[in-house]
Amino acid sequence: MTGNRNIVDEITGHRRMRRNRKADWTRRLVQENRLTVDDLIWPAFVVPGTNVVDPVAAMPGVNRLSVDKLVEAAKEAADLGIPAIATFPNIDMSLRDETGSHCLAANNLINEATRAIKQAVPNIGVITDVALDPFTNHGHDGVLRGDVIVNDETVELVAKAAVIQADAGSDIIAPSEMMDGRIGVIRRALDEAGHQNVGIMAYATKFASAFYGPYRDAIGTGGLLKGDKKTYYIDPANGTEALRDAALDVEEGADTLMVKPGLPYLDICWRIKEAFGLPVFAYQVSGEYSQIKAAALNGWIDGERVMLETLLAFKRAGCDGILSYFAMDVARHLAKKGS
Ligand code: PBG
Repeated sequence: MTGNRNIVDEITGHRRMRRNRKADWTRRLVQENRLTVDDLIWPAFVVPGTNVVDPVAAMPGVNRLSVDKLVEAAKEAADLGIPAIATFPNIDMSLRDETGSHCLAANNLINEATRAIKQAVPNIGVITDVALDPFTNHGHDGVLRGDVIVNDETVELVAKAAVIQADAGSDIIAPSEMMDGRIGVIRRALDEAGHQNVGIMAYATKFASAFYGPYRDAIGTGGLLKGDKKTYYIDPANGTEALRDAALDVEEGADTLMVKPGLPYLDICWRIKEAFGLPVFAYQVSGEYSQIKAAALNGWIDGERVMLETLLAFKRAGCDGILSYFAMDVARHLAKKGS
């Protein structure tokens, strides 16, 4: 043969993947997934008091905010275009007990935060967690009897707390305690109370993960927790079981499904998206955030690029959105890029 043909042409049959990668414009043209501000849910920590901005040591850049400060931040989030905020309370230790009874107080910290945000920033969605762990003095997500986290009693409490959260203005209830039957019971309780429009984001697959460590410090449950959560969260070894668990949430009436933690469980995100066709969200949890921050602060990785790459990976894995402590940073970055 003549001309410029060479051995690689013979091998590839003239097909070359790199033609589409040759310039910025070709790469933009063929880009399959894109991260936008519409994909972001911002998880935020609430503390009692006013004018409090209290850094979480293990999560550089993340602060616990009093309700007034949270409202200011929610306003900024809404202005940046972030669709929703997910709140987690760190309540006074004196209010925590065996059964997490303070979850039923209409004016508890999470409900006060919801009311204040909905009043001041009506155009941001509020997603509230209904597990009992912020309210128990043992750090478990449910009622502890002896050494058992009792399922049905917990579900009853969580469903009541969900209705009270909806009364306070919560738009989406996110049950994170992994009790059996909770989605169905919460759905019925909400409907009974006239909250047909309040949605349920099921923590459909929540794994017994070591990645939650910094979060437990942030809401003050780290030192309290006796034992572990393996009798109610899913074993990280199990994918088929996770799908079965998610299927039950779908049958019981979940509107959206969440996978938690995020990056180590992208296979689950993909399988759930394929299986149910419901919107799927990943929770990039505290330990995932801290890993990236710690390495970046040491100068070992480019924190901003790694942050964006992880979030894009969720999109590629089929997620419709991501709960991420990076949400505000990313939204600011995207706004800068867009202008
Ligand atoms: C428990 C709950 C957890 C998180 C949010 N709610 C897990 C746990 O402490 O067991 C983790 C969030 C994170 O790590 O960012 N209901």
